[in-house]
Amino acid sequence: MTIEAEGVAELQNAELEMTPELAELYRDFDAHHLAPLWTQTSDVLTFHPRSEAVPFVWRWRDLYPLAERSGELVPVGRGGERRAIALANPGLRGAPYASPTIWAAIQYLGPRETAPEHRHAQNAFRFVVEGEGVWTVVNGDPVAMRRGDFLLTPGWNFHGHHNDTDHPMAWIDGLDVPLSDYIDVGFFEYGTERVTDEASPDVSRSERLWAYPGLRPLSALDDRVSSPLSAYRWEHTDRALTAQLELEDEGHPATVEQGHAAIRYVNPTTGGDVMPTLRAEFHRLRSGALTPERHEVGSSVWQVFDGRGTFVVGGVRHALEKGDLVVVPSWIPWSIEAKSEFDLFRFNDGPVIERLGFARTLVSRS
Ligand SMILES: [Fe+2]
Repeated sequence: MTIEAEGVAELQNAELEMTPELAELYRDFDAHHLAPLWTQTSDVLTFHPRSEAVPFVWRWRDLYPLAERSGELVPVGRGGERRAIALANPGLRGAPYASPTIWAAIQYLGPRETAPEHRHAQNAFRFVVEGEGVWTVVNGDPVAMRRGDFLLTPGWNFHGHHNDTDHPMAWIDGLDVPLSDYIDVGFFEYGTERVTDEASPDVSRSERLWAYPGLRPLSALDDRVSSPLSAYRWEHTDRALTAQLELEDEGHPATVEQGHAAIRYVNPTTGGDVMPTLRAEFHRLRSGALTPERHEVGSSVWQVFDGRGTFVVGGVRHALEKGDLVVVPSWIPWSIEAKSEFDLFRFNDGPVIERLGFARTLVSRS
């Protein structure tokens, strides 16, 4: 039996006939706020994950002009807090969530604008697909945002953003908002209206302390639940991916599979994920490379950083270009075909799924 055929199999008791007595029993269940399992087994106990979220693609060529128009019409400031426009999965009935666990948005900051400081229990990151000129200030530490950088704002750290230039900048935000909403763990607090440090250094204090491979300050030997490194710079990501492909060329093990280099961003104090609820990775495929089809428990969002390729999700082929985003809900099969060298950023709920013991992957090799 294929996975799809299993998925639609009915577990309900087909033998059960409705009688007046049974109808009355069901009405009485209802009156007492009870729900019998046998009428809903196929919804509750599925043969494999069946997300209400659907695979979906958002195009950068649509997103960016809409963000730009928001920049003309909507001020950024206290109350609204951020000019962020969330990806709302069409399967999630209007909720502003990309998947059941992930909030993803394009955020836009106009020339010389400031997004005020605040903090929240929810974990957040930024990824920059184009542009530069904004500094995100995390607990008073100004962190430059540039193309290809991955920037962290773990839960309960004050943060604001300021644009130090005469041009706008947009990037994507990822947060664990849907998960924290569902399990009721959210706290929020306002900070200052302006960022607490308007300096614009090339290198943040966090990087000066933590951004040396394999070296850890003796003044900070305690493990942290979230990474103390605020910025993962493109030059390092690019160099790591380039080296993996060079090693592959030289016949050494380095890549995930033929023509597919990838890295995971990690917390230097643990070697684990950067934050307790979100995982982030960067993938580079050689031109012409194909990945096998994968089913994974948990949901992912991908963003094309550079190049062209086809993302196949749920059996549908999507030609993607720079900036395009695609959400892959739990257990929906996906694969990638690179038409040129193809660079993709991805984030997902992997740390949650793994810590709860639900992780499972099925790889179909052709
Ligand atoms: Fe925030």
